[in-house]
Amino acid sequence: MKKRKGVISDLNEIYQLEKIIFKNEAWTQEMLKMELLNNENTKTLIIEENKSILGYLMSRSVFEEHHILNVGVLPQRQKQGIGTILLRSFLKCIKNTSSVFLEVKKSNFHAIKLYKTNGFKVFDQRKNYYKDGSSALMMNYCKVY
Ligand SMILES: CC(C)(COP(=O)(O)OP(=O)(O)OC[C@H]1O[C@@H](n2cnc3c(N)ncnc32)[C@H](O)[C@@H]1OP(=O)(O)O)[C@@H](O)C(=O)NCCC(=O)NCCS
Repeated sequence: MKKRKGVISDLNEIYQLEKIIFKNEAWTQEMLKMELLNNENTKTLIIEENKSILGYLMSRSVFEEHHILNVGVLPQRQKQGIGTILLRSFLKCIKNTSSVFLEVKKSNFHAIKLYKTNGFKVFDQRKNYYKDGSSALMMNYCKVY
């Protein structure tokens, strides 16, 4: 497995994965393109094997405040530590004193477990946050020295 930064030429492969992983809640190609286009505030981390993408994490940052927007791992490769590698690599590369925020569906126990195990805490909840009417947990992580 190899870790690398996502680039615009990954768009189609990530879009195909996104549809498999998130089904009717998948981001559009246009949304993914916005994150992959070269912009100093956006970053995509990719894990690949034999040149096939297995998982990705997309984030946006303004100075030392970061927002994780999207994390997905190919269904048949979930529960093998890829989500953990993506999240830890991201947390490792941000500056000390950074804050990280994310939203996660209250019913998404696997993702919540991944975030809590890696130091995220729930600080708020938003009702009716997602298209299907479900609530979101707002989580944050503070990187300290
Ligand atoms: C959430 C997600 C990114 C986690 O990636 P992953 O590669 O499966 O995660 P890991 O293998 O590193 O596992 C992380 C933890 O979650 C648990 N976990 C992950 N998927 C699980 C599953 N399907 N069933 C049970 N436990 C699961 C693992 O046991 C592990 O816990 P541990 O550290 O105590 O062993 C992945 O399941 C996914 O893509 N889900 C669909 C998309 C999604 O929900 N994204 C997050 C949106 S906020």
